[in-house]
Amino acid sequence: MTLSIYDYAALTDEECDALIEKAKARLGDRCVILGHHYQRNEVFKHADFSGDSLKLSKDAAESTAEYIVFCGVHFMAEVADILSRPNQIAILPDLAAGCSMADMANLMKVNQCWSELAQVLDVENEVTPVTYINSAADLKAFCGEHGGIVCTSSNAEKILDWSFSRREKVLFFPDQHLGRNTAHRMGMSLDDMVVWDFTKPLGGLTVEEIKNAKMILWNGFCSVHQMFKPEHIDNFLAQYPETKVISHPEACLEVCQKSDYVGSTEFILKTVRASESRSRWLVATELNLVNRLNEECTDKNIHFMSPMLCMCSTMFRTDPQHLAWVLENLVAGHVVNQISVPEKDALLAKKALNAMLSVV
Ligand code: 13P
Ligand code: SF4
Repeated sequence: MTLSIYDYAALTDEECDALIEKAKARLGDRCVILGHHYQRNEVFKHADFSGDSLKLSKDAAESTAEYIVFCGVHFMAEVADILSRPNQIAILPDLAAGCSMADMANLMKVNQCWSELAQVLDVENEVTPVTYINSAADLKAFCGEHGGIVCTSSNAEKILDWSFSRREKVLFFPDQHLGRNTAHRMGMSLDDMVVWDFTKPLGGLTVEEIKNAKMILWNGFCSVHQMFKPEHIDNFLAQYPETKVISHPEACLEVCQKSDYVGSTEFILKTVRASESRSRWLVATELNLVNRLNEECTDKNIHFMSPMLCMCSTMFRTDPQHLAWVLENLVAGHVVNQISVPEKDALLAKKALNAMLSVV
């Protein structure tokens, strides 16, 4: 009989730890647990591999385990399902662990945008669609179908190079900030970028604005990273001028421009870990990562950029209770919370993901 999540609700984290360890030992090589850097400690400590979205995609693609348990959010488990072999099973411990930014673009709106752009441009020859990996599988499939590609926060520059070498314009979704920050760092003027407001006809733009734009940015954003403000940096530097500032590219342009370093979660960890002893850092990314980094690097001063708590509430949904539940079910021979992308979408999405993996 399949075990119910309600049987786990009353268990303490410590009780779940013991169950997780026991189940992992029973499953052995048949199961791999992947953990994104934003996972809370109680879950993160059980991961066999941790990383940013790119590293975890590669880990999923290379894994030979029968079960890939993804402690992250929904789009990550979809990528694991798409890139893994047909006999492998991707599992998301809590199905409600989504990404609010990924939800800001959907296939209906993107199709509408594409057909509206087609009234003004020869889209198939002039526009490369690029989706941030933080998006649903059908949007990755859209990119696969239209000669486009996927990017992550650690390869966006190389992916934009690839895209502009094929077509003169890019439609970038769902995160306007990653698109803007990356193109701007590559030397593109802000005048060459427009924001597509998906609530308005023709994205709220004029025909002239669309024709002149090189980068068409979807107006999505991450609710966690939009909490970081340039004044947080100014105030902190006024007190500690020696501080190095490091930000995730989902933060706004003004924050990234005031930062010494901008990069993915993996990049942030590597850069701070490799820095000099006693150096001081102001970090703009999710709180669980920053807290863990602070605990690990006892020889450095690591500060969270915002005075507000910026936690990714959907990443936080995965708890030891859900992890114990999915693992114990696997031991009992039951798969719960499988993420399975429909074959038609999976094939096209894989095309766009493989295009990315061939670039990086
Ligand atoms: P990374 O690819 O840098 O891990 O970012 C994923 C993410 O969702 C950041 O908000
Ligand atoms: Fe999505 Fe933002 Fe959470 Fe990353 S931090 S998973 S972009 S909501």
